[in-house]
Amino acid sequence: MKTNTTNIQSFSFNISEFFQNPYPFYEEMRSINPIYKSTLLKYQGWYITGYEETVKILKDSRFHSRPPIPAFSRNYANVRRIQENMMLFTNPQHHRQLRSLVTKFFTPNIINECRPFIEKTVDELIDQVICRGTMDVVSDFAFPLASSVIAKILGVPAKDYPLFKQWTATFIQSIDFTRSPKTLGNSRKVTEEIIAYFKKIIRAREQEPKEDLISKLIGEKQREEKLSYDELIATCVLLLIAGHETTVNLISSSIFLLIQNPRQLENLQDNPEFITTAIEEFLRFESPAQLIARTASEDITVNETVIQKGEQVYLFLGAANRDSRKFQNPHQLDIARNPNPHLAFGHSSHFCLGSSLARLEAKIAIQRLLQKVRNLQAVDFNGHYRKIIGFKSLVELNVTFD
Ligand code: HEM
Repeated sequence: MKTNTTNIQSFSFNISEFFQNPYPFYEEMRSINPIYKSTLLKYQGWYITGYEETVKILKDSRFHSRPPIPAFSRNYANVRRIQENMMLFTNPQHHRQLRSLVTKFFTPNIINECRPFIEKTVDELIDQVICRGTMDVVSDFAFPLASSVIAKILGVPAKDYPLFKQWTATFIQSIDFTRSPKTLGNSRKVTEEIIAYFKKIIRAREQEPKEDLISKLIGEKQREEKLSYDELIATCVLLLIAGHETTVNLISSSIFLLIQNPRQLENLQDNPEFITTAIEEFLRFESPAQLIARTASEDITVNETVIQKGEQVYLFLGAANRDSRKFQNPHQLDIARNPNPHLAFGHSSHFCLGSSLARLEAKIAIQRLLQKVRNLQAVDFNGHYRKIIGFKSLVELNVTFD
Protein backbone atom coordinates (compact mmCIF):
# COMPACT_ATOMS: atom_id res chain seq x y z
CA MET A 1 0.00 0.00 0.00
CA LYS A 2 1.24 3.48 -0.79
CA THR A 3 1.76 5.87 2.04
CA ASN A 4 2.28 9.59 2.03
CA THR A 5 4.37 9.84 5.15
CA THR A 6 7.97 8.78 5.46
CA ASN A 7 11.41 9.91 6.48
CA ILE A 8 14.78 10.11 4.86
CA GLN A 9 15.72 6.45 5.47
CA SER A 10 13.14 5.27 2.93
CA PHE A 11 14.94 7.07 0.12
CA SER A 12 18.04 6.44 -1.86
CA PHE A 13 18.84 10.10 -1.39
CA ASN A 14 22.16 11.81 -1.84
CA ILE A 15 22.13 15.60 -1.53
CA SER A 16 25.18 16.14 -3.80
CA GLU A 17 23.52 14.13 -6.55
CA PHE A 18 20.27 15.98 -5.91
CA PHE A 19 21.86 19.39 -6.58
CA GLN A 20 23.11 18.21 -9.97
CA ASN A 21 20.13 16.08 -10.97
CA PRO A 22 17.01 16.23 -8.77
CA TYR A 23 14.72 14.45 -11.26
CA PRO A 24 15.22 10.80 -10.17
CA PHE A 25 14.43 11.91 -6.62
CA TYR A 26 11.27 13.71 -7.75
CA GLU A 27 10.19 10.59 -9.69
CA GLU A 28 10.72 8.38 -6.67
CA MET A 29 8.80 10.70 -4.38
CA ARG A 30 5.92 11.10 -6.85
CA SER A 31 5.69 7.34 -7.35
CA ILE A 32 5.09 6.97 -3.60
CA ASN A 33 2.68 9.89 -3.46
CA PRO A 34 2.58 13.24 -5.28
CA ILE A 35 1.47 14.77 -1.96
CA TYR A 36 3.98 13.49 0.48
CA LYS A 37 4.76 14.38 4.09
CA SER A 38 8.41 14.41 4.93
CA THR A 39 11.23 15.83 6.98
CA LEU A 40 13.57 15.17 4.13
CA LEU A 41 15.89 18.07 3.25
CA LYS A 42 15.59 19.25 6.88
CA TYR A 43 12.27 21.02 6.37
CA GLN A 44 9.12 19.35 7.64
CA GLY A 45 6.09 19.68 5.45
CA TRP A 46 4.19 18.40 2.45
CA TYR A 47 6.32 17.85 -0.64
CA ILE A 48 4.28 18.24 -3.81
CA THR A 49 5.69 16.65 -6.96
CA GLY A 50 2.55 16.19 -9.10
CA TYR A 51 1.39 18.63 -11.76
CA GLU A 52 -2.35 18.67 -11.04
CA GLU A 53 -1.75 18.77 -7.28
CA THR A 54 0.56 21.79 -7.71
CA VAL A 55 -2.02 23.64 -9.80
CA LYS A 56 -4.78 22.87 -7.27
CA ILE A 57 -2.73 24.28 -4.40
CA LEU A 58 -1.56 27.36 -6.28
CA LYS A 59 -5.15 28.14 -7.27
CA ASP A 60 -6.40 27.85 -3.69
CA SER A 61 -6.04 31.21 -1.91
CA ARG A 62 -6.32 29.46 1.47
CA PHE A 63 -2.69 28.48 0.90
CA HIS A 64 -0.75 31.57 1.89
CA SER A 65 2.58 32.83 0.76
CA ARG A 66 4.75 33.81 3.75
CA PRO A 67 8.16 35.41 4.27
CA PRO A 68 10.68 32.59 4.79
CA ILE A 69 12.16 34.42 7.82
CA PRO A 70 9.85 33.72 10.78
CA ALA A 71 8.18 36.69 12.52
CA PHE A 72 9.77 35.90 15.89
CA SER A 73 13.28 36.10 14.45
CA ARG A 74 14.23 39.44 15.97
CA ASN A 75 17.85 39.03 14.86
CA TYR A 76 16.71 39.25 11.28
CA ALA A 77 14.11 41.99 11.69
CA ASN A 78 15.49 43.99 8.76
CA VAL A 79 15.36 41.00 6.39
CA ARG A 80 11.89 40.11 7.61
CA ARG A 81 10.64 43.69 7.09
CA ILE A 82 11.80 43.67 3.49
CA GLN A 83 10.32 40.23 2.87
CA GLU A 84 6.93 41.03 4.35
CA ASN A 85 6.61 44.03 2.04
CA MET A 86 7.48 42.04 -1.07
CA MET A 87 4.42 41.13 -3.13
CA LEU A 88 5.86 37.63 -3.47
CA PHE A 89 5.25 36.97 0.22
CA THR A 90 1.96 38.86 0.74
CA ASN A 91 -1.63 37.62 0.65
CA PRO A 92 -4.84 38.63 -1.11
CA GLN A 93 -5.56 42.20 -0.12
CA HIS A 94 -2.02 43.49 0.39
CA HIS A 95 -0.85 41.43 -2.60
CA ARG A 96 -3.49 42.80 -4.97
CA GLN A 97 -2.71 46.36 -3.98
CA LEU A 98 1.07 45.96 -4.42
CA ARG A 99 0.84 43.95 -7.62
CA SER A 100 -1.60 46.30 -9.32
CA LEU A 101 0.80 49.21 -8.77
CA VAL A 102 3.63 47.40 -10.53
CA THR A 103 1.80 45.30 -13.19
CA LYS A 104 0.97 48.32 -15.30
CA PHE A 105 4.70 48.84 -15.91
CA PHE A 106 5.18 45.22 -17.05
CA THR A 107 2.63 44.79 -19.83
CA PRO A 108 3.94 42.95 -22.95
CA ASN A 109 3.76 46.23 -24.93
CA ILE A 110 5.90 48.11 -22.43
CA ILE A 111 8.32 45.20 -22.21
CA ASN A 112 8.59 45.14 -25.99
CA GLU A 113 9.99 48.67 -25.77
CA CYS A 114 13.08 47.09 -24.14
CA ARG A 115 13.75 45.08 -27.30
CA PRO A 116 16.29 47.49 -28.93
CA PHE A 117 18.25 47.75 -25.67
CA ILE A 118 18.30 43.96 -25.24
CA GLU A 119 19.40 43.44 -28.85
CA LYS A 120 22.17 46.01 -28.53
CA THR A 121 23.41 44.53 -25.23
CA VAL A 122 23.38 40.96 -26.61
CA ASP A 123 25.33 42.05 -29.70
CA GLU A 124 27.91 43.90 -27.61
CA LEU A 125 28.41 40.94 -25.30
CA ILE A 126 28.86 38.53 -28.22
CA ASP A 127 31.27 40.96 -29.92
CA GLN A 128 33.43 40.98 -26.79
CA VAL A 129 33.99 37.22 -26.89
CA ILE A 130 33.68 36.33 -30.57
CA CYS A 131 37.42 36.59 -31.38
CA ARG A 132 38.36 34.58 -28.29
CA GLY A 133 36.27 31.62 -29.42
CA THR A 134 35.53 30.86 -25.80
CA MET A 135 33.42 32.25 -22.95
CA ASP A 136 31.78 31.44 -19.66
CA VAL A 137 28.12 31.71 -20.64
CA VAL A 138 27.10 32.59 -17.08
CA SER A 139 29.52 35.41 -16.28
CA ASP A 140 30.32 36.69 -19.81
CA PHE A 141 26.84 36.56 -21.27
CA ALA A 142 23.76 35.67 -19.23
CA PHE A 143 24.58 37.61 -16.08
CA PRO A 144 25.72 40.90 -17.66
CA LEU A 145 22.70 40.77 -19.98
CA ALA A 146 20.04 40.16 -17.33
CA SER A 147 21.68 42.65 -14.93
CA SER A 148 21.96 45.40 -17.53
CA VAL A 149 18.33 44.98 -18.54
CA ILE A 150 16.83 45.11 -15.06
CA ALA A 151 19.27 47.90 -14.09
CA LYS A 152 18.11 49.92 -17.09
CA ILE A 153 14.42 49.32 -16.31
CA LEU A 154 14.80 50.23 -12.65
CA GLY A 155 17.19 53.08 -13.35
CA VAL A 156 20.22 51.92 -11.38
CA PRO A 157 23.75 52.06 -12.81
CA ALA A 158 24.73 48.85 -14.66
CA LYS A 159 28.30 49.37 -13.45
CA ASP A 160 27.07 48.26 -10.02
CA TYR A 161 26.34 44.77 -11.26
CA PRO A 162 29.13 43.06 -9.28
CA LEU A 163 27.17 44.26 -6.23
CA PHE A 164 23.90 42.85 -7.61
CA LYS A 165 25.60 39.50 -8.13
CA GLN A 166 26.80 39.30 -4.56
CA TRP A 167 23.49 40.55 -3.11
CA THR A 168 21.43 38.17 -5.18
CA ALA A 169 23.52 35.13 -4.26
CA THR A 170 23.21 35.99 -0.56
CA PHE A 171 19.51 36.76 -0.74
CA ILE A 172 18.78 33.55 -2.63
CA GLN A 173 20.66 31.54 -0.02
CA SER A 174 18.67 33.18 2.77
CA ILE A 175 15.38 31.94 1.29
CA ASP A 176 16.67 28.52 0.23
CA PHE A 177 16.25 25.22 2.12
CA THR A 178 20.02 25.12 2.46
CA ARG A 179 20.13 28.31 4.57
CA SER A 180 22.26 28.20 7.71
CA PRO A 181 22.98 30.64 10.54
CA LYS A 182 26.01 31.78 8.51
CA THR A 183 24.06 32.52 5.31
CA LEU A 184 21.31 34.19 7.33
CA GLY A 185 23.90 36.36 9.07
CA ASN A 186 25.25 37.38 5.65
CA SER A 187 21.75 38.23 4.45
CA ARG A 188 21.25 40.59 7.39
CA LYS A 189 24.38 42.50 6.44
CA VAL A 190 23.56 42.50 2.74
CA THR A 191 19.99 43.67 3.41
CA GLU A 192 21.38 46.76 5.17
CA GLU A 193 23.57 47.43 2.15
CA ILE A 194 20.69 47.04 -0.32
CA ILE A 195 18.41 49.28 1.73
CA ALA A 196 21.10 51.99 1.92
CA TYR A 197 21.72 51.63 -1.83
CA PHE A 198 18.08 52.07 -2.79
CA LYS A 199 17.50 54.85 -0.24
CA LYS A 200 20.23 56.86 -1.94
CA ILE A 201 18.78 56.31 -5.41
CA ILE A 202 15.23 57.03 -4.25
CA ARG A 203 16.37 60.29 -2.65
CA ALA A 204 18.05 61.33 -5.92
CA ARG A 205 14.96 60.45 -7.98
CA GLU A 206 12.66 62.27 -5.58
CA GLN A 207 14.64 65.40 -6.30
CA GLU A 208 15.08 64.76 -9.99
CA PRO A 209 12.69 62.18 -11.49
CA LYS A 210 13.78 60.32 -14.62
CA GLU A 211 12.01 58.04 -17.09
CA ASP A 212 12.83 54.92 -15.04
CA LEU A 213 10.72 52.52 -12.99
CA ILE A 214 11.98 53.82 -9.63
CA SER A 215 10.77 57.33 -10.54
CA LYS A 216 7.40 55.89 -11.62
CA LEU A 217 7.07 53.93 -8.38
CA ILE A 218 7.91 57.08 -6.40
CA GLY A 219 5.06 58.72 -8.32
CA GLU A 220 2.77 55.93 -7.09
CA LYS A 221 4.01 56.46 -3.55
CA GLN A 222 3.30 60.18 -3.70
CA ARG A 223 -0.11 59.70 -5.30
CA GLU A 224 -2.55 59.23 -2.39
CA GLU A 225 0.20 57.48 -0.43
CA LYS A 226 -0.52 54.29 -2.38
CA LEU A 227 2.87 52.76 -1.73
CA SER A 228 4.66 53.02 1.61
CA TYR A 229 8.40 53.65 1.84
CA ASP A 230 9.04 50.05 3.00
CA GLU A 231 6.94 48.71 0.13
CA LEU A 232 8.82 50.87 -2.35
CA ILE A 233 12.20 49.58 -1.17
CA ALA A 234 10.98 45.96 -1.00
CA THR A 235 9.61 46.22 -4.54
CA CYS A 236 12.92 47.56 -5.85
CA VAL A 237 14.82 44.73 -4.11
CA LEU A 238 12.39 42.10 -5.40
CA LEU A 239 12.57 43.35 -8.97
CA LEU A 240 16.36 43.58 -8.89
CA ILE A 241 16.74 40.03 -7.57
CA ALA A 242 13.83 38.28 -9.31
CA GLY A 243 14.64 40.28 -12.41
CA HIS A 244 17.92 38.61 -13.06
CA GLU A 245 18.65 35.46 -11.01
CA THR A 246 16.18 33.21 -12.78
CA THR A 247 16.75 34.79 -16.18
CA VAL A 248 20.48 34.06 -15.89
CA ASN A 249 19.57 30.47 -15.03
CA LEU A 250 17.22 30.20 -18.01
CA ILE A 251 19.70 31.53 -20.57
CA SER A 252 22.64 29.45 -19.33
CA SER A 253 20.63 26.23 -18.92
CA SER A 254 19.09 26.66 -22.38
CA ILE A 255 22.51 26.89 -24.01
CA PHE A 256 23.76 23.91 -22.01
CA LEU A 257 20.69 21.86 -23.00
CA LEU A 258 21.25 22.65 -26.66
CA ILE A 259 24.90 21.59 -26.43
CA GLN A 260 23.88 18.35 -24.71
CA ASN A 261 21.25 17.70 -27.40
CA PRO A 262 23.06 18.36 -30.72
CA ARG A 263 20.10 17.24 -32.86
CA GLN A 264 17.86 19.78 -31.17
CA LEU A 265 20.56 22.43 -31.59
CA GLU A 266 20.81 21.65 -35.30
CA ASN A 267 17.04 21.69 -35.60
CA LEU A 268 16.85 25.14 -33.98
CA GLN A 269 19.66 26.49 -36.14
CA ASP A 270 17.89 25.23 -39.27
CA ASN A 271 14.45 26.35 -38.07
CA PRO A 272 14.84 29.58 -36.08
CA GLU A 273 11.04 29.90 -35.95
CA PHE A 274 11.09 27.17 -33.25
CA ILE A 275 12.64 29.65 -30.81
CA THR A 276 9.32 30.38 -29.09
CA THR A 277 8.45 26.74 -28.34
CA ALA A 278 12.11 26.04 -27.58
CA ILE A 279 12.17 28.66 -24.78
CA GLU A 280 9.02 27.14 -23.25
CA GLU A 281 10.64 23.71 -23.39
CA PHE A 282 13.82 24.95 -21.69
CA LEU A 283 11.64 26.51 -18.98
CA ARG A 284 9.82 23.20 -18.50
CA PHE A 285 12.83 20.93 -18.74
CA GLU A 286 15.23 22.78 -16.43
CA SER A 287 12.91 25.08 -14.49
CA PRO A 288 15.02 27.96 -13.13
CA ALA A 289 12.83 28.24 -10.00
CA GLN A 290 12.52 24.65 -8.78
CA LEU A 291 10.66 25.17 -5.55
CA ILE A 292 8.11 27.56 -4.08
CA ALA A 293 6.35 27.35 -0.72
CA ARG A 294 2.94 27.97 0.81
CA THR A 295 1.37 27.65 4.28
CA ALA A 296 -2.14 26.25 4.92
CA SER A 297 -4.22 29.02 6.57
CA GLU A 298 -6.83 26.42 7.67
CA ASP A 299 -7.29 22.64 7.39
CA ILE A 300 -7.49 21.97 3.65
CA THR A 301 -8.18 18.68 1.87
CA VAL A 302 -6.27 18.08 -1.35
CA ASN A 303 -6.98 14.77 -3.09
CA GLU A 304 -8.21 13.16 0.14
CA THR A 305 -5.14 14.32 2.06
CA VAL A 306 -5.80 16.73 4.90
CA ILE A 307 -3.19 19.44 5.15
CA GLN A 308 -3.55 20.98 8.57
CA LYS A 309 -3.65 24.64 9.44
CA GLY A 310 -0.11 26.01 9.77
CA GLU A 311 1.56 23.20 7.84
CA GLN A 312 4.08 24.04 5.14
CA VAL A 313 3.62 22.95 1.56
CA TYR A 314 6.65 22.76 -0.73
CA LEU A 315 5.81 22.79 -4.43
CA PHE A 316 8.55 21.38 -6.62
CA LEU A 317 7.86 23.12 -9.93
CA GLY A 318 10.74 21.20 -11.51
CA ALA A 319 8.96 17.96 -10.57
CA ALA A 320 5.50 19.09 -11.74
CA ASN A 321 7.05 20.01 -15.08
CA ARG A 322 8.36 16.44 -15.50
CA ASP A 323 5.15 14.68 -14.43
CA SER A 324 4.43 11.95 -17.00
CA ARG A 325 0.70 12.17 -16.17
CA LYS A 326 0.79 15.62 -17.82
CA PHE A 327 3.70 15.60 -20.29
CA GLN A 328 4.50 12.83 -22.76
CA ASN A 329 8.12 11.67 -22.50
CA PRO A 330 8.78 14.29 -19.83
CA HIS A 331 12.51 13.57 -19.62
CA GLN A 332 12.98 14.12 -23.31
CA LEU A 333 13.84 17.61 -24.51
CA ASP A 334 11.66 18.54 -27.48
CA ILE A 335 12.05 22.10 -28.72
CA ALA A 336 8.87 21.76 -30.79
CA ARG A 337 6.71 20.60 -27.85
CA ASN A 338 3.33 22.28 -28.15
CA PRO A 339 1.18 22.74 -26.13
CA ASN A 340 3.50 23.08 -23.17
CA PRO A 341 1.54 24.24 -20.12
CA HIS A 342 4.56 24.21 -17.78
CA LEU A 343 4.51 25.86 -14.37
CA ALA A 344 7.98 27.42 -14.50
CA PHE A 345 6.49 30.88 -13.87
CA GLY A 346 4.12 29.59 -11.19
CA HIS A 347 0.33 29.78 -11.49
CA SER A 348 -2.60 31.99 -10.47
CA SER A 349 -2.28 35.06 -8.28
CA HIS A 350 1.52 35.14 -7.87
CA PHE A 351 2.20 34.18 -11.51
CA CYS A 352 5.54 35.71 -12.48
CA LEU A 353 5.25 39.38 -13.21
CA GLY A 354 8.40 39.37 -15.34
CA SER A 355 7.54 36.40 -17.59
CA SER A 356 7.29 38.50 -20.80
CA LEU A 357 10.61 40.16 -20.05
CA ALA A 358 12.36 36.86 -19.26
CA ARG A 359 11.00 35.27 -22.44
CA LEU A 360 12.08 38.22 -24.56
CA GLU A 361 15.62 38.30 -23.13
CA ALA A 362 16.09 34.54 -23.55
CA LYS A 363 14.68 34.61 -27.06
CA ILE A 364 16.96 37.40 -28.28
CA ALA A 365 20.02 36.03 -26.47
CA ILE A 366 19.74 32.50 -27.84
CA GLN A 367 18.63 33.50 -31.33
CA ARG A 368 21.50 35.94 -31.81
CA LEU A 369 24.12 33.66 -30.29
CA LEU A 370 23.12 30.83 -32.63
CA GLN A 371 23.18 33.18 -35.61
CA LYS A 372 26.68 34.40 -34.81
CA VAL A 373 28.55 31.30 -33.67
CA ARG A 374 28.94 27.76 -34.95
CA ASN A 375 30.19 24.53 -33.42
CA LEU A 376 29.21 25.45 -29.86
CA GLN A 377 30.79 22.96 -27.42
CA ALA A 378 30.97 22.70 -23.65
CA VAL A 379 34.45 22.43 -22.15
CA ASP A 380 33.06 20.20 -19.41
CA PHE A 381 30.04 18.12 -20.29
CA ASN A 382 29.00 17.77 -16.64
CA GLY A 383 27.06 20.82 -15.56
CA HIS A 384 28.05 22.24 -12.20
CA TYR A 385 24.97 23.51 -10.46
CA ARG A 386 24.97 25.62 -7.33
CA LYS A 387 24.33 23.73 -4.12
CA ILE A 388 20.88 25.14 -3.57
CA ILE A 389 17.51 23.46 -3.74
CA GLY A 390 15.11 26.18 -4.82
CA PHE A 391 16.86 27.15 -8.05
CA LYS A 392 18.54 25.29 -10.89
CA SER A 393 21.52 27.52 -11.34
CA LEU A 394 24.74 26.77 -13.22
CA VAL A 395 27.87 28.04 -11.44
CA GLU A 396 29.63 28.42 -14.77
CA LEU A 397 29.37 27.13 -18.31
CA ASN A 398 32.61 27.33 -20.26
CA VAL A 399 32.07 26.88 -23.97
CA THR A 400 34.12 27.05 -27.15
CA PHE A 401 32.83 28.01 -30.61
CA ASP A 402 33.91 28.98 -34.15
C1 HEM B 1 7.11 35.54 -9.31
C2 HEM B 1 9.77 32.45 -11.93
C3 HEM B 1 11.85 36.20 -14.26
C4 HEM B 1 9.59 39.24 -11.27
C5 HEM B 1 7.61 34.40 -9.86
C6 HEM B 1 7.18 33.05 -9.52
C7 HEM B 1 7.94 32.19 -10.23
C8 HEM B 1 8.85 32.98 -11.04
C9 HEM B 1 7.87 30.67 -10.20
C10 HEM B 1 6.03 32.69 -8.57
C11 HEM B 1 6.48 32.54 -7.14
C12 HEM B 1 5.38 32.05 -6.23
O1 HEM B 1 4.25 31.80 -6.66
O2 HEM B 1 5.66 31.89 -5.03
C13 HEM B 1 10.54 33.21 -12.78
C14 HEM B 1 11.39 32.65 -13.80
C15 HEM B 1 11.98 33.71 -14.47
C16 HEM B 1 11.49 34.93 -13.85
C17 HEM B 1 11.57 31.16 -14.08
C18 HEM B 1 12.96 33.72 -15.61
C19 HEM B 1 13.17 32.74 -16.40
C20 HEM B 1 11.39 37.35 -13.67
C21 HEM B 1 11.75 38.69 -14.09
C22 HEM B 1 11.12 39.54 -13.21
C23 HEM B 1 10.36 38.74 -12.28
C24 HEM B 1 12.64 39.03 -15.27
C25 HEM B 1 11.10 41.03 -13.13
C26 HEM B 1 11.57 41.89 -13.87
C27 HEM B 1 8.75 38.48 -10.49
C28 HEM B 1 7.89 39.06 -9.46
C29 HEM B 1 7.18 37.99 -8.90
C30 HEM B 1 7.61 36.79 -9.58
C31 HEM B 1 7.79 40.53 -9.09
C32 HEM B 1 6.15 38.07 -7.78
C33 HEM B 1 4.76 38.10 -8.35
C34 HEM B 1 3.70 38.08 -7.29
O3 HEM B 1 3.97 37.72 -6.15
O4 HEM B 1 2.57 38.45 -7.61
N1 HEM B 1 8.63 34.32 -10.80
N2 HEM B 1 10.64 34.58 -12.83
N3 HEM B 1 10.55 37.43 -12.59
N4 HEM B 1 8.56 37.12 -10.54
FE1 HEM B 1 9.52 35.87 -11.75
